[in-house]
Amino acid sequence: MTIPFDYIGKVAVVTGGAQSIGLLVAQNLVKRGARVVIGDIQLSGAAEVDRMNKKAEGHVAIFQHCNVSDTNALWSLIDLAITAFGQLDILVNNAGILDKPWELDPTGSTARRCITTNICGTIEATNYALHHWNQQKDAKGVVVNLASMAAYVPLNFMATYAATKAAIVMYTKCMASVAPKVRVNAIAPGGVDTKFIDAEHLGRDHWTVKASGLIQPQRVVDQVMRAIEDESLAGDIIIVKNNEEPELCKLPKSTDMEALFQTSSASV
Ligand SMILES: NC(=O)c1ccc[n+]([C@@H]2O[C@H](COP(=O)([O-])OP(=O)(O)OC[C@H]3O[C@@H](n4cnc5c(N)ncnc54)[C@H](O)[C@@H]3O)[C@@H](O)[C@H]2O)c1
Repeated sequence: MTIPFDYIGKVAVVTGGAQSIGLLVAQNLVKRGARVVIGDIQLSGAAEVDRMNKKAEGHVAIFQHCNVSDTNALWSLIDLAITAFGQLDILVNNAGILDKPWELDPTGSTARRCITTNICGTIEATNYALHHWNQQKDAKGVVVNLASMAAYVPLNFMATYAATKAAIVMYTKCMASVAPKVRVNAIAPGGVDTKFIDAEHLGRDHWTVKASGLIQPQRVVDQVMRAIEDESLAGDIIIVKNNEEPELCKLPKSTDMEALFQTSSASV
């Protein structure tokens, strides 16, 4: 019999948690009994945290301004969870931005911001959290990265974004080997009904949105919670499409490769 994941007393860090998917993840975590530290560049996260604490009638959430492209700010966010709430159990690398098409980004500055936010923010936060968990003999951790269907569907108008999300998919697959101490998983949704979609070169009238429709954010958050709770998931990507059952990405993980190499070296 599997023991249900117990959120009571657990502490989570959620990046990009001031709105949309990140905020909903934080709210779902608190609803289940966890405490959360939200980091975001938008200061409106502070008011959201006030609302969460009032609703819970306790000190269950903290907001800290954090630009995930800034390594020190990221480390300080994770340190805050440990100093203020005493531990770290869950890291949700949710902060992510869209690039602009190359025609609108001649200096590549938006592309660079997209890369540092989406890739560096995710990998540096995970490395720091892994280091923390590694130092605690009995600690176990779980990381959920927000990837995207863009990792699998080459679309020219979001080339840098797609490349960053493909990087997150591969990074997550590589990190299968740190389980069972730490389980690193990712969610790869298609278009989700959030402010993200309203970017000037995307928008609700865009042909891709018209063709695929938009996923309700709670459906994505349900899969984030599944990735946290399901002990059998490690190095897994849950693909979430509109009006379809979520499915696991079939690309091999680092643990599959290790098993494969061990088998082939044994047969030499
Ligand atoms: N909405 C979609 O269609 C969609 C689809 C697939 C994947 N995703 C991914 O899901 C995640 C959340 O998307 P969303 O729809 O909630 O987007 P959103 O734009 O509504 O919210 C993103 C949040 O991240 C914050 N953020 C941006 N840059 C940051 C930085 N440098 N440091 C800290 N915080 C920062 C923003 O302030 C915002 O609060 C992103 O990683 C996105 O790529 C979104």
